[in-house]
Amino acid sequence: MEKLLIRGGHVLDPSRGIDAEMDLLIEKGRIAALGPPGTLLAEEILAAHGRCVVPGFVDMHTHLREPGFDYKETIRTGTAAAAAGGFTSVACMANTQPVNDNRTVTEYILEKARLEGSANVYPIGAVSKGLGGEELAEIGEMAEAGIVGISDDGQPVRDSHLMRRALEYASMFGLPVISHCEDKTICPGGVMNESFVSTELGLNPIPNACEEIMVARDILLAELTRGRLHIAHVSTAGSVHLIRDAKRRGVPVTCEVTPHHLFLTDEAVRSFDTTTKVNPPLRTAADGAALREGLRDGTIDAIATDHAPHEQAAKELDFSMAPFGLIGLETAFPLCLRLVKEGVLTLSQLIAKMTVEPARILSIPKGSLAVGSDADLAILDLEKRYVIDVRNFRSRSRNCPFDGWEVQGKAVCTLRAGEIVYEAENLRERSARTSWSYDNLPRKIVY
Ligand code: DOR
Repeated sequence: MEKLLIRGGHVLDPSRGIDAEMDLLIEKGRIAALGPPGTLLAEEILAAHGRCVVPGFVDMHTHLREPGFDYKETIRTGTAAAAAGGFTSVACMANTQPVNDNRTVTEYILEKARLEGSANVYPIGAVSKGLGGEELAEIGEMAEAGIVGISDDGQPVRDSHLMRRALEYASMFGLPVISHCEDKTICPGGVMNESFVSTELGLNPIPNACEEIMVARDILLAELTRGRLHIAHVSTAGSVHLIRDAKRRGVPVTCEVTPHHLFLTDEAVRSFDTTTKVNPPLRTAADGAALREGLRDGTIDAIATDHAPHEQAAKELDFSMAPFGLIGLETAFPLCLRLVKEGVLTLSQLIAKMTVEPARILSIPKGSLAVGSDADLAILDLEKRYVIDVRNFRSRSRNCPFDGWEVQGKAVCTLRAGEIVYEAENLRERSARTSWSYDNLPRKIVY
């Protein structure tokens, strides 16, 4: 498509401070102009009246599972799920088979994404070889190949010296170290949050301290090295407190929260439904309140899904045996829209935490509708009510605890580089004004 006009939508782009009804013109896959309604012209039109037009969401924490675990997810199905959720860019974690700890795997992921992806894929390299926690991975080579951060996510970096070196080395390449904070020695065999519920259910507990010990250590190491630290999936009130304090002291730390830690508590585990088994575990309502306060005051920078697909057979095991993880790309936006209803965030703040903020942390040129940038965007219906049905998911997996939830808000059309990659509703409309005249001469207003 040479030129495409997104007409009559409410454009919301926190990166540019835009929050108004506008037309948006796409030319050759890039954003060519934004202008007041009726001022721009193209033959191909998407009618976005009554809809919200936002930068495509950026998920800085996705497990695409390829290479090695394509029975859980593939780059094709994972990015299709992303597009269906309004995401146009995802950063994928390194716990694949083989692990993304060298240039070859990074290049493989990028090539596969180029051939089969419906979203932009940004690989995250491992901190340590084979996620073994002993020796640094080929960080320099992977940086050259295109990784946007390093992480052993799924596993903590147990050794403090290795973590120190990772922070120092990554900073030479301008990369953040994304930390999965977990001190496994304090929770052997833990499968759920330590609380009354774990006692009642007789399940091995994981205390908040399991996360907070490592958050504290990593903050101290970031302070020592000045390396950029990003804390993944923050789940406890204590972690929020530690990060808030560190930010006040000027430590280079950022963090993310997942929708499931915001909208579920450990009470959900009473069902013994293994889709509620996740690491870090679902915590208490008090932790949820602290996470909301962290979002409100800016301690928590970004919302990320930790989309972690697992095949049905694995999740059908006993709760203690089933793997940790749940999927989130196709439910993140409608769930998080509840934060606006709750008064925790404004719509603009929510969109920022799903677009420009994660893009900023990863230093990728995404999350913005600036003229000249790739036309990656989502058209949202904020009013649409529906029931989440995992059978409709694009993901290859179904491990979603939100199945059957009634929600409001949906990406109805997602575009990547100006191409429609997801379309729940046909918004296409042909221009009635195909012949040139002075009356319809576009009056370009460029922001
Ligand atoms: O629940 C989780 N699942 N947490 C992680 O950190 C890793 C992830 C996975 O890879 O399945």
